[in-house]
Amino acid sequence: MKKFNVLVVGGGSTWTPGLLKGMCSRKDSFPINRLVMYDIDEGRQQTIGEFARVLFHEDYPEMDFRYTTNKEEAFTEDIDFVFVQMRTGGFAMREQDEKIPLNMGVIGQETCGPGGFAYGMRSIRDMVELVKDVREKTQNAWILNYTNPAAIVAVALQQIFPEDNRILNICDQPENLLRSYGRLLNRNEREFDPVYFGLNHFGWFTHLYDQEGNDLLPELREMILAGGFRPADYEQRDQSWLDTYAMVEQMVRDFPDYLPNTYLQYYLYPDKVLNKLDPDYTRTNEVQSGREKRVFEDCARVAEAGTTEGSNVVANDAHGEFILIVAESIAHNKGNNFVVIVRNDGIISNLPDDAMVEVAASLTANGPRPYAVGDIPTFYKGLIEGQYAYEKLTAEAFMEGSYHKALQALTLNRTIVSATKAREVLDALIETNKDYWPELT
Ligand code: NAD
Ligand code: G6P
Ligand code: MN
Repeated sequence: MKKFNVLVVGGGSTWTPGLLKGMCSRKDSFPINRLVMYDIDEGRQQTIGEFARVLFHEDYPEMDFRYTTNKEEAFTEDIDFVFVQMRTGGFAMREQDEKIPLNMGVIGQETCGPGGFAYGMRSIRDMVELVKDVREKTQNAWILNYTNPAAIVAVALQQIFPEDNRILNICDQPENLLRSYGRLLNRNEREFDPVYFGLNHFGWFTHLYDQEGNDLLPELREMILAGGFRPADYEQRDQSWLDTYAMVEQMVRDFPDYLPNTYLQYYLYPDKVLNKLDPDYTRTNEVQSGREKRVFEDCARVAEAGTTEGSNVVANDAHGEFILIVAESIAHNKGNNFVVIVRNDGIISNLPDDAMVEVAASLTANGPRPYAVGDIPTFYKGLIEGQYAYEKLTAEAFMEGSYHKALQALTLNRTIVSATKAREVLDALIETNKDYWPELT
């Protein structure tokens, strides 16, 4: 079997140890010849890199492995897959994305509302650079991207590299939801054949077929209405995630047609969610004192001890496993079905062709072959059109350096609505992001 050369960009990510463990457990189906991890932060990369050395010495000794902060070493001609998970501005800027809006009375969140806007304006620049760095060396490598806000990154990359058909933006949340449905129904998520439509962090499952073709969604809806909803890995989740999943019950009660992505809570109940968010202690603070601390302490301990024994660094397997099974399906032309982000081009027939939609697709060696969704009902179409206009204006505001489009984008966002508020938030975000954003005039 062919062995693949993989580059991980954002090798110092908190999610990297889980990904590396996934690589070890999937080495028979996705054998790796050479793995390079690249990050711009030497300290983070080294801690995770030294953990990886110990892990691979135990579980993957045949693999050629290195880590680096040097672009020349990272970007080479023979790469088959690039896995991207970078965070421009780090957690320090995520904290600002959350706290600035919250202090002005609007939702402050990593990928939704003005926080997602600010993060998008930062991510586009580095993601464009990354694609250029890869493509300077090879046209063949698949770029599988987790970097958020994936919705906005996808729109920008599609505009800037319209001919590049080996960039695939993915999100683990539909996969997390499928696993959560699986746990409720006592089934393995890989047995499901889902139908899903929307934008990233803004979509709905409409059907959940089993292998005999029965739709399990009606039964699932009843179970959620009767007993609530929890993530598959609830034993390992922080309280804020449990609260988020719990809101699915409310959404299903109000809009029982489909099963919503958890991120819709920010757009459908901004007032209610706002009441639960604390501007002095946001998700970033929770991650920094939880996942980030745990991962970096544990990796340092493993490197020091020279053994992974007793290490309990992986909190969520779905994240690391999902990108690997996506890569496997492409690498071996398996045609397995996954929910991914693709250009619409008629899949959802009453939405614009250039929207980057999240839908179920068969993943082949030639990329995603999405399944037709057809027309969607007015309520969902209206929500998506507003959100898509916001995403498109955000990408255009970046590309054109347009204050006007940035203001339009934020005014359109359901978490803001008021143009006065949009201007106030935008001006504050411009000030904080001046080292990262293009100048907006
Ligand atoms: P993190 O800050 O721990 O990791 C990001 C790493 O990227 C850091 O080590 C940082 O130094 C590095 N980095 C920043 N800019 C870079 C650049 N230009 N080139 C190379 N490396 C760079 O953050 P995290 O919480 O582990 O998340 C990582 C990324 O994955 C974020 O974008 C996050 O939003 C995303 N993510 C996406 C999904 C999804 O469903 N799409 C799921 C989880 C995480
Ligand atoms: C889910 C989403 C990601 C998001 C992550 C945030 O996995 O799909 O897009 O980045 O949650 O998780 P965190 O634990 O960092 O708040
Ligand atoms: Mn996501």
